[in-house]
Amino acid sequence: MADIRPYRPSDRDDIYEICVKTGKSGTDATGWLDSDDLLPDIYALPYVDLEPDFAFVVDVDGRARGYILGVPDTAAFATELRRTWLPGFEAKYPVTHEDTPTQHFVADGRDPDRLLIPELAEYPAHLHIDLLPELQGQGLGRMLVRTLIGRLATRGVPGVWLEYGADNVSAAAFYRRLGFLPLPSSTKGTLVGLRTDATV
Ligand SMILES: CC(C)(COP(=O)(O)OP(=O)(O)OC[C@H]1O[C@@H](n2cnc3c(N)ncnc32)[C@H](O)[C@@H]1OP(=O)(O)O)[C@@H](O)C(=O)NCCC(=O)NCCS
Repeated sequence: MADIRPYRPSDRDDIYEICVKTGKSGTDATGWLDSDDLLPDIYALPYVDLEPDFAFVVDVDGRARGYILGVPDTAAFATELRRTWLPGFEAKYPVTHEDTPTQHFVADGRDPDRLLIPELAEYPAHLHIDLLPELQGQGLGRMLVRTLIGRLATRGVPGVWLEYGADNVSAAAFYRRLGFLPLPSSTKGTLVGLRTDATV
């Protein structure tokens, strides 16, 4: 039986695992990069450490098997990332100037300003969502989005954005179905936004 509940610190290792197992355009990224820690260190662990009140998990028998991780104020999060997270990240992941997937992600992780998109006035929040394969396609992604935008709306946050890779066609279909709209400032990946008063 799968339930959605708020994140708790004891979920942190499960969050790491989910991030790695879904990190390569929705598929298993284990062994893909120089360190399996890299994707969670950018896209998951700073979120649960800095904004635990906006993290929700799909709980199966006490284990987190899916998550949605949000931050209500992306600009403030970028500032906090720079202050508290970046020093450790930079020490752990040196720049080598090689043209490799690892170095692409290292560059992203070292650049919190990448999060400062022009649409932040309308969509101040952003999110990441991932479910292990056995939980996909059962309506849980929709329920996670509904849960997060409900929490954001009660805090007065009007909208949330996210970015997905061009090759993640499955995620693209999911976001379109839920009513996320493409944002004009999309560059490498695709940026989409959703108002928190939307019905999903
Ligand atoms: C993308 C993801 C979060 C979607 O969650 P999910 O639980 O599988 O999706 P749901 O079952 O809630 O689907 C909600 C709606 O989207 C539709 N949808 C979901 N995936 C779809 C797909 N690949 N193609 C077409 N429609 C899709 C569903 O049909 C459903 O519509 P309906 O309610 O009208 O029937 C999940 O599949 C996942 O974690 N994938 C791997 C990791 C990933 O890619 N994360 C996103 C990175 S940007």
